[in-house]
Amino acid sequence: MRLLFFFVLYAVGLLFGLARNGLRPRVRRPSEAPRQTPTRVLIVGATGGTGRQLVAQALERGLTVTALVRNPSRLPANHQALTVLQGDVLDPGSLEAAMHGQDAVLCALGHKRYFHPTRILSEGTGNILRAMETHRVSRLVCETSLGIGDSVGRMGLYYTLLLIPLILPFYFWDKTRQERIIAESNLDWVIVRPGALTNGTKRGHIHHGSRVGSVLWTVRVSRADVAEFMLDQLGSNTYLRAAPGIAWGRPTSAVQPDGVEGVQ
Ligand SMILES: NC(=O)c1ccc[n+]([C@@H]2O[C@H](COP(=O)([O-])OP(=O)(O)OC[C@H]3O[C@@H](n4cnc5c(N)ncnc54)[C@H](OP(=O)(O)O)[C@@H]3O)[C@@H](O)[C@H]2O)c1
Repeated sequence: MRLLFFFVLYAVGLLFGLARNGLRPRVRRPSEAPRQTPTRVLIVGATGGTGRQLVAQALERGLTVTALVRNPSRLPANHQALTVLQGDVLDPGSLEAAMHGQDAVLCALGHKRYFHPTRILSEGTGNILRAMETHRVSRLVCETSLGIGDSVGRMGLYYTLLLIPLILPFYFWDKTRQERIIAESNLDWVIVRPGALTNGTKRGHIHHGSRVGSVLWTVRVSRADVAEFMLDQLGSNTYLRAAPGIAWGRPTSAVQPDGVEGVQ
């Protein structure tokens, strides 16, 4: 009983910390849309679940894609518009080389080193931002997660009270740093916070905005739908400098009158 009491205390404290230290951007009304939709994109995390979807869908849209990967054998360059570059986000030099000539960056970075403190997400993203500034690449669309900053608690009870406190505390802590580093930059950024990811097919019908998610239930969305939404953000200012959640299913908020949150 005492153990349970201390666990609940710890879980609540962690949630409080993730909320307090995390990003709380205000969803802004759309400003001027980019003059030109980016056509040359760098994809970081391209061998991962979302990253592969980003690569495939970006090529389908006719974009010229550079994929930064640690192990090129995991992503065959089988398309004339795809360049696969070997590199590591923790190595600023490889990002410098990859950033040259790009219009925008899509980041789906992730890892599985859950059980000790890491800075892979925040340090890697910091290196991406510095390379973008050097090469005057202005637009970053970055995938993080529901459950951080002003979306704390919106991953449902299973994540909020079990997975995040028991397995993912260090990971989520680094994600809060990652979001803050992005928000402190002068770039045109969009942070995309999905619910639990699946490898299902694209439904093309997702809820997005600052009130997506559920306090009780785990909300889900496929990596394919996340990739589509991220690619849409390249040419849209709807969520410029904002961090919308995205998920399938019943929205907890109705479509807002300002047209920013909604269903697509
Ligand atoms: N799983 C979920 O339910 C869930 C829910 C919400 C949000 N998210 C977040 O969504 C994001 C994407 O998740 P995912 O499952 O689609 O991706 P993932 O399969 O975990 O892939 C992560 C990608 O990051 C790359 N990466 C890791 N360290 C790197 C480094 N130092 N340099 C360059 N690349 C590196 C990996 O490369 P390698 O192939 O070389 O390892 C891989 O391509 C993650 O941030 C995740 O936390 C996940």
